[in-house]
Amino acid sequence: MEYTLMHKNVAVAELEIFEDTGTILKTIELMRPEHLPFGIRLTPQGKPETRAINDWWADRAIPSTRQGLRDFLELLHIFSTAELLPKCYGLSLSDQYWVRPSNKPLEWKDVNFFENEFSEDVGNALFGRAADGELDLMSPDNTSDGWLKKKWVVADRKRLLLKGGSGPAYQEPLNEVIASAIMRRLGIAHAPYTLTWDNDQPLSVCEDFITPQTDLVSAWHIRETGKKPGHISEYQHFLARCDALGIPGARESLDRMLAVDYLIVNADRHYNNFGAVRDAETLEWLGLAPIFDCGTSLWYDQYPHMIRPRAEQKSKPFRGKHGEQIELVTDFGWLDFPALRGVDEEYSEILRQSPYIEDNRRDVLCYALRERVAMLERLALSLTAIVSEPENDDEDDWEPEL
Ligand SMILES: Nc1ncnc2c1ncn2[C@@H]1O[C@H](COP(=O)(O)OP(=O)(O)OP(=O)(O)O)[C@@H](O)[C@H]1O
Ligand SMILES: [Mg+2]
Repeated sequence: MEYTLMHKNVAVAELEIFEDTGTILKTIELMRPEHLPFGIRLTPQGKPETRAINDWWADRAIPSTRQGLRDFLELLHIFSTAELLPKCYGLSLSDQYWVRPSNKPLEWKDVNFFENEFSEDVGNALFGRAADGELDLMSPDNTSDGWLKKKWVVADRKRLLLKGGSGPAYQEPLNEVIASAIMRRLGIAHAPYTLTWDNDQPLSVCEDFITPQTDLVSAWHIRETGKKPGHISEYQHFLARCDALGIPGARESLDRMLAVDYLIVNADRHYNNFGAVRDAETLEWLGLAPIFDCGTSLWYDQYPHMIRPRAEQKSKPFRGKHGEQIELVTDFGWLDFPALRGVDEEYSEILRQSPYIEDNRRDVLCYALRERVAMLERLALSLTAIVSEPENDDEDDWEPEL
């Protein structure tokens, strides 16, 4: 069936979509190439590469790694989550792309999830709760990414993302809250997370930081705008791509992200866990996105007796170890260490709310966070003299992970 790929109100391309599988078969006509989803390249004939546009489309669907996916597919009697995309016109709460069936004269203002009600049926099914009768599939949960269970809800007209954790400690939602507190104390642009409970499970709550006027573009698509030359590092390459695109303040934003990730020992800052925001109409870059998704950190999957704050810890995306990645920070002058005083006590209060966190685990985690702050303070003092990354990069064989 024919659809128009829309970017808010702009008709970008005419597509043929096979609805049974949700696959894009071909681009019939391209009207506005500059409005294509960021990173989709054109063939010499001036059409979007079918593979690239399908990858983009498939990436919009709930990923195969999502917790509880098998049960979800059974509940909905479907084989793949891509089948759900046309049911909600591919609409998302993270950008302004959608597909308009050629036989329906729909307008963005009447269908977008930023301004219109949406169903919670899909979100509830993702949490294992089926509604009675036929499900209403008009939901932004069909286009949400990431492996943790999550659902969008509306409260006081705000769009909120509720996200779970993983057992046995279910620490991720609590970590989102302490990471927000750290960034609030340090004045870092971030998506603020709070805590709620659903059936005795902790969930983080985070307001949509995308508006009807903006798109979130993942760092992966920015990285892929050019091939990394062998003689420069991952970090230098990413920063060069940001500079080439004209993304303002990228270096300063990365300094802050890397410092926070060092403090919380973030294990999963892959290239889809940060990105940039652009104006969906003018296509102007506004800057890197506020920092989000910090839950996979602070030894969330580690036994308390194995937690060693001073030991080397694995990191992403630029270097494989936090001790090395932190050396990429170009300026520590903004780090207000006195503002972090008592952050371990704040973490303790957050952890205390959860029956899944035993006293010993809580004590060890708070001690470990205090240690990380002290380590960063020492490092900042000793590295302040280093203003640029060393030229000789011995991590060239380091492969980024998604
Ligand atoms: N507050 C928000 N506003 C807009 N989009 C968001 C927001 N939070 C998350 N997203 C989008 O949803 C995606 C999934 O969210 P998130 O990264 O928090 O989930 P996750 O399950 O923790 O992911 P991962 O698999 O990386 O652990 C993000 O990559 C981003 O595209
Ligand atoms: Mg994520």
